Amino acid sequence: MLGRLGFESAALDAKLLTGHALGLSALDLALRENDPVDGHAAARVAELLQRRMTGESVARIIGEREFYGLGFTLNAATLEPRPETELLVDMALGALPAGGRLLDLGTGTGCIPIAVLANQPDASAVAVDLSALALETAQANAERHGVGERLELRQGDWFGSLEDPPPSIPPHKGEGGERAGNPQLAPPSPRWGGTEGGVESHTPEAVSGLFDLIVSNPPYITSAVVETLAPEVRDFDPRLALDGGPDGLAPYRVITAQAAHWLRPGGWVLVEIGHEQGADVSALFLEAGFEDVAVHRDLNGLDRVVGAHHL
Ligand SMILES: C[S@@+](CC[C@H](N)C(=O)[O-])C[C@H]1O[C@@H](n2cnc3c(N)ncnc32)[C@H](O)[C@@H]1O
Repeated sequence: MLGRLGFESAALDAKLLTGHALGLSALDLALRENDPVDGHAAARVAELLQRRMTGESVARIIGEREFYGLGFTLNAATLEPRPETELLVDMALGALPAGGRLLDLGTGTGCIPIAVLANQPDASAVAVDLSALALETAQANAERHGVGERLELRQGDWFGSLEDPPPSIPPHKGEGGERAGNPQLAPPSPRWGGTEGGVESHTPEAVSGLFDLIVSNPPYITSAVVETLAPEVRDFDPRLALDGGPDGLAPYRVITAQAAHWLRPGGWVLVEIGHEQGADVSALFLEAGFEDVAVHRDLNGLDRVVGAHHL
């Protein structure tokens, strides 16, 4: 049925969903292919296949997606992490100094900072999202991958949840500073409050200190184009994660205008972009006074990340 409806991966989708509905691994499913199933089990399988036929992705139905070799739990407020975003993680790992501190803006499942922290055990991160529901999942994912102690989550509008940085710039390891005594690392616990969308939200204490690296995969699709996306994306990925405003650049304007305020001298910003946004986003960074602005391509040869240096 999925095949007849034009789903390219119909056979695989059906196997994954059937295995999930029946609680069987791929191997068990293959071994028990000819076993009879009772009415309840058949109904569970039919329900999941029905959801797939409406365009919902297998990952969203199962509630799980792999990213950078790690499994990430999804919920209705989180974007499904995409493979092209792995380039941002590769570049972040290259740019973050030993003992470095990362800020991720628009964290969703937390996939970017969690992948970085899982691969750089002396790093720490702050991750922001406007959605409290997304942050719940990011917290669960951080604990699942053993990095919860090093990831502070904040609810709010881009830099708004961080409040003012302190006047001095704390040194980090390797530059003559004592990171252990650095006051910037607040104890890890959920720091968002209130309800979805920021209403009643509060951040009990300011994030103090500056960052070595700011990363973001913000919403960057133009509002008009969001309506034309494949149903799998348009109808199931959260609008807050997709819509970058009338020209798709609204989040980049905020990020480029305010990032320097939160970066140590010598720090970097890395942002994911839509493949036609390289020139526009680069211009925003240059306008904001950044140096070494460059567009980087993904494995498909498409412009995917803009990097900029704060000197
Ligand atoms: C494209 S998704 C990226 C999610 C995740 N970082 C990833 O790469 O899969 C953008 C994220 O930005 C969040 N977001 C949208 N507007 C925001 C805002 N004004 N302030 C903070 N986060 C925002 C969305 O909730 C969403 O989680």
